[in-house]
Amino acid sequence: MPLFNVYPLYDVTPVKAKGVYVYDENKTEYLDLYGGHAVISIGHAHPKYVEAISHQVKKLGFYSNAIQNPLQQKLADKLEALSSCKDYELFLCNSGAEANENALKLASFKTGKKRIIAFKNGFHGRTSAAVAATDNKNIIAPINAQQEVTIIDLNDIDSVKAELEKGDVCAVILEFIQGVGGLDEATKDFYEQVDVLCKANNTYLIADEVQSGYGRSGKFFAFQHYNVTPEIISIAKGMGNGFPIGAILIHPSIEAKFGMLGTTFGGNHLACAAGLSVLDVIEEQNLIDNVNEMSCYFIKIAKTIPQIKNIKGRGLMLGLEFDFEVGDLRKKLIYNYNIFTGGAMNKKLLRILPPLTVRRDHINQFFEALVDALDN
Ligand SMILES: Cc1ncc(COP(=O)(O)O)c(C=O)c1O
Repeated sequence: MPLFNVYPLYDVTPVKAKGVYVYDENKTEYLDLYGGHAVISIGHAHPKYVEAISHQVKKLGFYSNAIQNPLQQKLADKLEALSSCKDYELFLCNSGAEANENALKLASFKTGKKRIIAFKNGFHGRTSAAVAATDNKNIIAPINAQQEVTIIDLNDIDSVKAELEKGDVCAVILEFIQGVGGLDEATKDFYEQVDVLCKANNTYLIADEVQSGYGRSGKFFAFQHYNVTPEIISIAKGMGNGFPIGAILIHPSIEAKFGMLGTTFGGNHLACAAGLSVLDVIEEQNLIDNVNEMSCYFIKIAKTIPQIKNIKGRGLMLGLEFDFEVGDLRKKLIYNYNIFTGGAMNKKLLRILPPLTVRRDHINQFFEALVDALDN
């Protein structure tokens, strides 16, 4: 049976990975500055992570959400402590799209409204409401188009105000740093006014932290760079370091009701063990400090390279903008220099999303290769 051909693939077959490196079947070593699309947070095959998952799967990998699973509470407590999101409640699921779908659904249940406000170039996943809130017509099927979504330009506060005041908007969903779109951010003033307007209009602010969360932006969550209080925070990618897990953090003002949300696999024992070990390592290795240190180091070097026209993003969610499309440069970096990087909707942007454990020598290795690739 052939695979349904939806992914354009690079001709690389990884069979092993360790830390910031990935190895193919010929034992070629690749520097991973893509992190499997911002997923690898604590590094590939971290020993604590491998141990936690192996130990758990030998005991109990899965049982349904019909029984007590103390690992879920342990994960919730650890997440509350590290994220400083005091008193939020946790609902566990399996992916970023599912997290956003649940976030939007919860906003609609609770406000009794159904229109969504989302932003130009935003990406929220491929399930029904999440994809309808994504600004990419190519991935919205007719069945998704029934959702009522208004897409507004970042920083256009007048339009946000006018739409919210119509009274039918259940949620404003936004990425505080856009990922797939190309690392655009609105102003501090815009984000903070959106928060105020949401509160004034009985609309939930959903912070999509699927990509920017778990320390990647230099704070635990990207919204924490601002004075805002999202009603719902959605998370996934870095949460499991590759193990499929997602979640929403729900403000204490929102009351749960039996049956309102649910999932078969979400919050299973194995996923919780993976998620707990990720948080333990983030804490023990002070990875958020490393993000900030390595980000400064990376940006300092990037500023010395004349072909780089703009440096975007924060922490280890960075983009280098050129005055040409970077598709060929990415290929050159993979095939000639064995370095993975990311692309974006903005075709001139090279995205850098390494494991949060990246060190100076890895960054030096990247820039030596980049300068050489740009010169040849
Ligand atoms: C900001 C953001 N939200 C949601 C998603 C969807 O996550 P998933 O692919 O796990 O469904 C992504 C994936 O790239 C993302 O970057």
